[in-house]
Amino acid sequence: MTATIIDGKEIAKKKKQEIANEVEKLKAEGIVPGLAVILVGDNQASRTYVNSKQRACKELGMHSVQIEYPESLTEEELLGKIAELNQDDTIHGILVQLPLPKAINETRVIEAISPEKDVDGFHPVNIGRMITGQDAFISCTPFGILVMLKEAGIEIAGKHAVVVGRSNIVGKPVGQLLLNENATVTYCHSRTKDLEKHTLEADIIVAAVGRAGFITERHVKPGAVVIDVGINRNEAGKLCGDVAFEEAKEKAGFITPVPGGVGPMTITMLMFNTLKSARNHLN
Ligand code: GUN
Repeated sequence: MTATIIDGKEIAKKKKQEIANEVEKLKAEGIVPGLAVILVGDNQASRTYVNSKQRACKELGMHSVQIEYPESLTEEELLGKIAELNQDDTIHGILVQLPLPKAINETRVIEAISPEKDVDGFHPVNIGRMITGQDAFISCTPFGILVMLKEAGIEIAGKHAVVVGRSNIVGKPVGQLLLNENATVTYCHSRTKDLEKHTLEADIIVAAVGRAGFITERHVKPGAVVIDVGINRNEAGKLCGDVAFEEAKEKAGFITPVPGGVGPMTITMLMFNTLKSARNHLN
C-alpha cells in the first residue's frame, strides 16, 4: 500500500483564500488586521521565516510592520518596544522571532506580549486557556497540523496519537490539541525506551524531534497517519523531515511530505490568528 499524500500547500492555499475573504469583510468595517514582526540579530533562517510572514500578510491584504534590531539590543529596549506595540491599535498581532540572542531572556519577552496580541500562542495565558479548552490563540504549527488532519478527513476522536518530541512550540501543544479532540495521546522523547513499541501502536504519529529520517518504516503501523514536522538538511544539503519519507510512505495510510506538508500551514495559521485578533478588537 502507498500512502495518500496530505498536500499542505494545497490546504494552505484554500485556507489563505478563506482568510483573504474575511480580511476584506473586516476592512469594510474599518479594521485592517495588522501584524508586527520583530527580528533581533542576524540569523539567516529567522530572516527567511520573517520575510515569508511579511509576504503572506501582503498577499492576504493585511497590514504588517517588520522591526529589525542588531544582536546588541538589550532586553529593556525590546520590552519597551513590546509595551509600545501592546498599546498600538493598528497592531493586532505581535510576533518576536525566536531564537533570541543569549543575553535576552525569552520567557520574559514572551510574557511581556499582551495575551490578546500573542498570535504565536506562546504566552502562558494562551497555553493555559488552550489546555482548559477555552478560546485561545493556538500556536501555529500545532494548529496547522490539526487543520490538516481535519481537511484530509482524518478522524481524531478515539485514535491513539503518539507525539515524538516534547518542545514547548510543537510537541507539547500538539499533544494537548489532539487530546482536546478526544484522541488518546502518548508523548515520546529522547529518553523514551523502546520507541518502536509505542509508535507501532499509533494510529497517528507526529514526528517533531528535529532529526533527519528519525522515524523509519519500522516505526509505522500499516495504515497509520504520519505527520512530519521536521525541517532538517541531510548530508547532501537537501531539505528533509524527521521521517524517512520514501520507506514510510509504503507503510502509512496518510503522510505529509517535507517540503510542502506542515510548513505551509504554519504561516497560514499565523495569518488566521492575526485575523482572529483583529476580529476580537471589533467586539
Ligand atoms: N522560531 C521558529 N518557529 C517560530 C515560531 O513559530 N514563532 C516564533 N516567534 N519564532 C519561531
